[in-house]
Amino acid sequence: MGRTYEVREKRSPSGKALGLALEVQQKKPHFESRDIMLYKQDCLDGMREHLRSKSIDVIVTSPPYNIGIKYNSYDDAKPREKYLSWIEELAKEAKRVISDEGSFFLNVGSKPSDPWIPFDVAQRIREYFELQNVIHWVKSIAIARKDAGKYPAILDDVAVGHYKPIMGKRFLNDSHEYIFHFTKTGNVKIDRLAIGMPYQDKSNVRRWSSKEDKRCRGNTWFIPYETIRERKQRPHPSTFPVKLPEMCIKLHGIKNAKLVLDPLMGIGSTAIACAKLGVACVGFELDEEYLRFAAQRIRSLR
Ligand SMILES: C[S@@+](CC[C@H](N)C(=O)[O-])C[C@H]1O[C@@H](n2cnc3c(N)ncnc32)[C@H](O)[C@@H]1O
Repeated sequence: MGRTYEVREKRSPSGKALGLALEVQQKKPHFESRDIMLYKQDCLDGMREHLRSKSIDVIVTSPPYNIGIKYNSYDDAKPREKYLSWIEELAKEAKRVISDEGSFFLNVGSKPSDPWIPFDVAQRIREYFELQNVIHWVKSIAIARKDAGKYPAILDDVAVGHYKPIMGKRFLNDSHEYIFHFTKTGNVKIDRLAIGMPYQDKSNVRRWSSKEDKRCRGNTWFIPYETIRERKQRPHPSTFPVKLPEMCIKLHGIKNAKLVLDPLMGIGSTAIACAKLGVACVGFELDEEYLRFAAQRIRSLR
């Protein structure tokens, strides 16, 4: 480490300045399609090797939660302190590569018997970033008709989304995770209406918004998993739906998101979101099989 690189702009085939170090041009990514570049590499090594300071506008990622999930290559049961020190290294490197107006969205969940994980992770990152927004990713929700009030669309009790049922008498089913929105200053302008929702009561359109029928949706985001028929459609034990990075990037503001990074890419949900939004993306992943599947997903999207 500690090497310095001569920095030159790499341009994507569509002409966007990607702000990558010269090495990107010498050492080809393992997968490249237009503005999407994926590396099979440890993320800390990869960021140090390929990304110059302040070159990234948005990071959307999800670390392993250290809860013993069976990944292909990664050991998800480390001593807590070792895990948190690694999170801290990741935060330091994220701080170096992200621009001063950048957004770092970190999705973290836990397990019922160890609910402190997201808070421990956030505490480690606190030294390097301001926590600008805390978003709750809701995977499933039940609404009783009688609690819904006068919503004409809710005619009965409703339960939507998916969750893994938890047996026993101690814990509730776990149907949410956190998305921490870190920024360098806590003062980065975001595009709330890019992911806004229409007003239920249209009289509010005039009252609160002069232009369009959209309100800020708030910090509870209902994003269900895409339904799959077979495991091979999602050959990874811990992914987020593509809609999650899509919403994060839109919230940051598409026109301010020239280059997005997912340092822990898994099967490439962030890269897919970027391909859909027409935004350049760089990703790192240790496991060859996950990376291959990510590449396959991008090819079939295109
Ligand atoms: C929670 S998963 C991310 C899943 C991803 N958000 C998706 O939707 O597919 C974390 C991923 O990080 C990878 N990983 C763990 N340590 C890594 C490291 N040091 N460098 C790069 N990838 C790593 C694991 O193999 C795993 O696929």
